[in-house]
Amino acid sequence: MSIRVFAPASMGNVSVGFDILGGALSPIDGSLLGDFVTISATDSNNVIGVETIGRFAHKLPSDPKLNILYDCAVVYHEALVKKGQSPQSIKMVLEKELPVGSGLGSSAASVVAALYALDEFYNNALSKDELLLMMGKLEGQISGSVHFDNVAPSYLGGLQLMVEQGKTLTTSLPTFDDWYWVIAYSGVKVSTAESREIMPKQVDLKTALKFGQNIASFVDASHRGDSDLAASLLVDIIAEPVRGGIIPKFVENKQAMLDLGAIASGISGSGPTLFAVTKCADKAKELAAYLQENYIQNDDGFSHICKLDNQGARREAKRGTV
Ligand code: HSE
Repeated sequence: MSIRVFAPASMGNVSVGFDILGGALSPIDGSLLGDFVTISATDSNNVIGVETIGRFAHKLPSDPKLNILYDCAVVYHEALVKKGQSPQSIKMVLEKELPVGSGLGSSAASVVAALYALDEFYNNALSKDELLLMMGKLEGQISGSVHFDNVAPSYLGGLQLMVEQGKTLTTSLPTFDDWYWVIAYSGVKVSTAESREIMPKQVDLKTALKFGQNIASFVDASHRGDSDLAASLLVDIIAEPVRGGIIPKFVENKQAMLDLGAIASGISGSGPTLFAVTKCADKAKELAAYLQENYIQNDDGFSHICKLDNQGARREAKRGTV
């Protein structure tokens, strides 16, 4: 038996919700932007095999034990043993299609695909919350701290607000179906751990109050279907003032997006991917073309016109069968 799982790219923060809001992305051309993991049983004893293929596989450590998938399998197997079940020898193949350090939830997509695949393989031995907590913890090993704004949307789809109160870990926000999310990865690697290091350890009272007001008003506007107000609240007063200036070409390209008529623009996750929002399909093409020409700096870069991916992680047909 072999199981292949896809986990979509995601955009952390979405400007207004540093560390607590994230959206999963789905290109409108029908392509799948994210990572895939295939898991199958092997004959050997107590083995966790990891193999990496795909466009960005060469950017990962060559030692399989240094791959995050290995840690995912170890941690999942430990949880299985605690539940009185026996782990098997397995082989996992990661199709690494998302660039590392892009701000598109690359490590989150690998972790989500791996843990989702493991849970399917072991007949859903863990609950959704157990799995999500595990995803957050494992992704945190790479990004430097536990934040769910990439793993939650990649796993559950849509726009996820982290609640982390009592039994409620996350909630899905209502979204605007007519919004296009234009994204462009410049091709330059930005380490999430390093871009978290430069963040101020404290914010002043005025900033804290404005942050709370913005995210609360965005959630309210989303629930009332007030698209214009919601778009106007996609502003980042926490991370962008610190990170914007050090992401090459970000400031001028964000300004260009707004000048061209985008209703919002900002940094996806910790960057350098830039996003811009528009309700008009032709405008989305214009924004994507502009970014393709002006923001992308090498062959690793790309742009996509996306909608939110409302499905999140899911089983996919085996490679080469579609
Ligand atoms: N919220 C995280 C950060 C997301 O901005 O550091 C990283 O992709």
